[in-house]
Amino acid sequence: MKGLILSGGKGTRLYPLTYTRAKQLMPVANKPVLFRVIEAIRDAGISEIGIILGDTGPELREAVGNGDRWGVRITYIPQSAPLGLAHAVKTAQPFIGEDRFVTFLGDNVIQGGISSLISDFANHTEWSSQIVLTKVENPQQYGVAILGEDGRISQLVEKPKQYISDLALVGVYMFDHHIFEAADAIKPSWRNELEITDAIQWLVENGFNVYPHVHKGWWIDTGKPNDMLRANSYVLEELTPALRGTIDDKSSVDARVTVEAGAEIINSVIRGPAIIGEHTRIVNSYVGPFTSIYHHCTIENCEIEYSIVLENSTVRDVDARILDSLIGRNVEIGRAPARPKALKLTLADNSKLGIQ
Ligand code: TTP
Repeated sequence: MKGLILSGGKGTRLYPLTYTRAKQLMPVANKPVLFRVIEAIRDAGISEIGIILGDTGPELREAVGNGDRWGVRITYIPQSAPLGLAHAVKTAQPFIGEDRFVTFLGDNVIQGGISSLISDFANHTEWSSQIVLTKVENPQQYGVAILGEDGRISQLVEKPKQYISDLALVGVYMFDHHIFEAADAIKPSWRNELEITDAIQWLVENGFNVYPHVHKGWWIDTGKPNDMLRANSYVLEELTPALRGTIDDKSSVDARVTVEAGAEIINSVIRGPAIIGEHTRIVNSYVGPFTSIYHHCTIENCEIEYSIVLENSTVRDVDARILDSLIGRNVEIGRAPARPKALKLTLADNSKLGIQ
């Protein structure tokens, strides 16, 4: 089996953070989502992995390299334009050939990995496709599947207005080469994309076996800022804590906290689950649960909770507690000079700032 990771796309829902960075490189518990995807595929025993690239290709290539770090071989596959998930899969046909493969969306995080799924599909060579489903509370926002009496998928419906099923498609799909035929046969949708749900529906209608796997744990598509924060919380809860940095004796650090190498905690309180990145300084501050502070940051004289701070950022002397926030790279937040009493802001396009 081979692995295919879809990392093209536009990432518009995560603007402004994705103006300057590929969304697949956004860290969750201080590790890029894409690295977590590569590890999930590698842990399922697959070592040949293709990555679909869009405009952010150079940045992704530089971050991932040739895969040696994970003991896998990475092949990069540029997609001409973000014309849909089925178009991305079709673009990979020369890499996949006649092999069976798993397709994983490069911005998705799934609990528990995909090993059992992969062996299920490998053991059932009569299956053309296996799709992962999970129960959701708001099925009208997802592509959902209806199961037939024989246990196979009988129909897929994109964002159903009326209730027909609460089993939504998760961003992990197993295919054999018939998916390429399907991608050739379907027409672009109203948003001018070749939709993966339409391609799978084509398989169903043309008599190919498409089986479900109902996923019981959590799964998150990190498309929007709130999803990033949720994914961060879930992954932090499962992290094995480690203390590699220095903590002075005036600080108090919970059991479920990871302090990475070179980090310094000075006169501060860190409540877990949380992670403090390499060479980051936390001074006279409170870092609350579900917070990831990335490498080379400074947090001084402030309180921050349920948030993500990316590398090289400084947050200093803020009176209010920072909550539910996603702070980008090289950001400086601090107190302006006392007079005139005013807010001094430099915000990128589409930034969001909540002031009480
Ligand atoms: P989406 O989140 O559906 O699309 P997007 O990345 O363009 O984001 P947004 O809706 O915020 O603009 O994509 C899911 C994953 O698939 C993501 O990792 C990007 C990738 N992808 C491709 O590789 N090629 C494509 O043509 C599309 C649409 C997405």
